[in-house]
Amino acid sequence: MIAKSMIDLIGNTPLLELKLKKSLWKVYLKLEKFNPGQSMKDRMALNMICKAEQEGKLKPGGTIIESSSGNTATGLAFLSAIKGYHFIAVVDHHASIDKIKIIKAYGGDIVMVGSDKKADEVAVVERENKALELSKKIPNSFVLRQHENIDNRGAYVDSLAKELINELGEINELYGAIGTGGSICGTALGLKKYGSKAKINAIEPKGSIIFGGQGGPYFQSGTGNPPDAEIPPIIDYSLIDKNFYATDKEAFNTCRFLAKSLGILIGGSAGGVIYKALEDIYKKKNVGVAVILTCDGGEKYLDKIFDDDWMKSNNLIDEKIENKLSKWLEV
Ligand SMILES: Cc1ncc(COP(=O)(O)O)c(C=O)c1O
Repeated sequence: MIAKSMIDLIGNTPLLELKLKKSLWKVYLKLEKFNPGQSMKDRMALNMICKAEQEGKLKPGGTIIESSSGNTATGLAFLSAIKGYHFIAVVDHHASIDKIKIIKAYGGDIVMVGSDKKADEVAVVERENKALELSKKIPNSFVLRQHENIDNRGAYVDSLAKELINELGEINELYGAIGTGGSICGTALGLKKYGSKAKINAIEPKGSIIFGGQGGPYFQSGTGNPPDAEIPPIIDYSLIDKNFYATDKEAFNTCRFLAKSLGILIGGSAGGVIYKALEDIYKKKNVGVAVILTCDGGEKYLDKIFDDDWMKSNNLIDEKIENKLSKWLEV
């Protein structure tokens, strides 16, 4: 296919098999970093914009405003460039410098909030309040509100889920990160729609409170829900079979191991999902097919996860994680 626009290149991302030692499970990574904005959030950015246009909420030449940790904003920024909208991303210090530079490269503007927060605290509430405040001041502007926008979740039904069914047929376990819940709940809805009986596993950072765990700070970017933020209403708990908590150490040491041993450069939330998925699969006595959704690439986190000094100064290096991974994975 010859694409007519970058929009045509959203979706149909590659699957990569992870070879496991002493396990009959087939495990596949869905590599969402191969979307044009380098994350799965391109899918929902496109769907939210198209639906807002159809409903007349977004008018030609208008301004899109969104609170984002960076990936949704990147998708919205490049789509705004193509569609002629002005885009403002409201971000906090958790957004990596590289993500901010990418948004600016597409012509987006950045509004930074939460400067009084500590390095491992997220400022979701401040971000959302700022986005609403801006929309009141800027004429012909619209806040997409990914946390409560049903078109975030709906984006994955006929794209990601359908792709997985077409590519793999039967799937027994699906593992993915949960933040707004759009990707895991939308993919779950799609798998059900297309007749799959896959069990759905949601992974959040330790410290995130989506499944009621003890709240606390965490460094994993984009995923989870911090203790002071309202649980996104688009999360449908009835779609999730099991939930897990990934520590920053589990997430980041997995990313580093996969980069160095298999040449797979993925972001922090994906590292956490892969580690918890492998831990879970190794407890299973049966045989099956598992898909692990990896939200984005490691290129956006070179100054943190892949920076030895940053990892050491935050006491995040843990050789036990790498030892476990080398027992589980064929490298
Ligand atoms: C890196 C990363 N991982 C995971 C998620 C969570 O995805 P969702 O909001 O679809 O639950 C996000 C969302 O922004 C993200 O940016």
